[in-house]
Amino acid sequence: MERIFICSDHVSLVLKTAVVEFLQQRGIEVEDFGPFSEKVVVDYNDYAQKVAKAVAASTGDQGIVICGTGLGASIAANKVRGVRAALCHDVYTAHQSRAHNDANVLAMGAWIVSPQRMPGIVNEWLNTPFEGDRHIARVNVLDRFMSDETVKNNEPFDPNIFQYALALSTRKTVFGPVLYSGRIEEGFAALQSAGFRNVELSLRFADDLSFKALQNLLNKYELKVTALATGQGCLHDQLCLSVTDPEVHREAVKRLEDIIDLAHRLDTAVILGGVRGKFIGSDVDYPAQRAKVLEGVQQCCTYAQPLGVPLLLEAINRYETNFINTAAEAVAFIDEVGASNLKVLLDTFHMNIEEVDLPAAFRLTGEKLGYVHFVDSNRQAPGQGHTNLTAILKTLHDIGYRGVVSAEILPLIDDANAVERTANYLDSIGVNLTSISETTSQKR
Ligand code: RB5
Repeated sequence: MERIFICSDHVSLVLKTAVVEFLQQRGIEVEDFGPFSEKVVVDYNDYAQKVAKAVAASTGDQGIVICGTGLGASIAANKVRGVRAALCHDVYTAHQSRAHNDANVLAMGAWIVSPQRMPGIVNEWLNTPFEGDRHIARVNVLDRFMSDETVKNNEPFDPNIFQYALALSTRKTVFGPVLYSGRIEEGFAALQSAGFRNVELSLRFADDLSFKALQNLLNKYELKVTALATGQGCLHDQLCLSVTDPEVHREAVKRLEDIIDLAHRLDTAVILGGVRGKFIGSDVDYPAQRAKVLEGVQQCCTYAQPLGVPLLLEAINRYETNFINTAAEAVAFIDEVGASNLKVLLDTFHMNIEEVDLPAAFRLTGEKLGYVHFVDSNRQAPGQGHTNLTAILKTLHDIGYRGVVSAEILPLIDDANAVERTANYLDSIGVNLTSISETTSQKR
């Protein structure tokens, strides 16, 4: 249980006071947004909006808004993006608002609910979990009403606030969406001549290239590594975090620790995507495998923390793995890991398969978003499919993201063409790769 933000208006202060006392007796932290006197006439909407904004800005806090009927307060709260306020006059509606609507704000009317009936309603509301299941998509649609409004908002923004990269593989791999697989110098040269100043590298081993050789190439082609991707260890060598055999699991973590050491030397991040593997066997076998993934990710975070290396947990679509498929699941998993150096990576290709609403999913991750894979609906270069990628950039801008936007794409028609298409798309939306390189180098 996190905090409860609460407010009333002047006519409903008595009920608010009763709720505050009731919550505090139960050991729940309450933040009272007022008002504190019945004598001063106030507007319910000002107070309800303050509570709603606090709930929307938090991760997991809930709100209670009260006015005479609860109507005005609930309407005002529901104008805030990310808020689902439910007006409940009895235990049944309180139960349903949590179970079916995942309400994060409870609205009550002091002219309808007496202080004596209040505890039953509040208790039911606090103790009822969201049922999920068929209700998830419906709740996502509720949230989309607000996100459509965001997309329509044409307030200009500068796409040059992000650092654009392309994903290459140091050695030849069967993993599809990487360019110049095994032809790294050719790839670096292509990136440089297209204007890119950043590269994401997919590795099988930390020493696919010696550190010196890699550094020389990066210097020669004036590239900075934005992240090291690690899925090849699982794909080619079965060193996956979901493996329950202790020795293989240790070897999988060791492979990642070596890559974390390299990331430290390159001052970059490490991606934990396909390396988690997938659950095998039947449902009863899954918990043990999940526990190994959790343990492995925690070990990597602990190892990376003193080295200052950020780790990025990627949500991946259901056809590639059978757990952590959505943004919400990635956020829940990193909350469970509980490490400050672990963030979420969202890939617009996977999202196109898994999410109801892409901008809403980005907003859900908020400050936990650490990296973005910028890919069109068909896993080709931006501009080759039907995903509204400019709406995604606008959303990233709106949520305050200022990090890397990296194209992890299929080499279609071929590697050179994929680089060229990506550069052309970025140019068409006003990205000036050269000016970005100056900004990035100033920051270093
Ligand atoms: C105040 O008179 C009253 O209108 C307010 O408390 C609330 O019931 C509004 O919906």
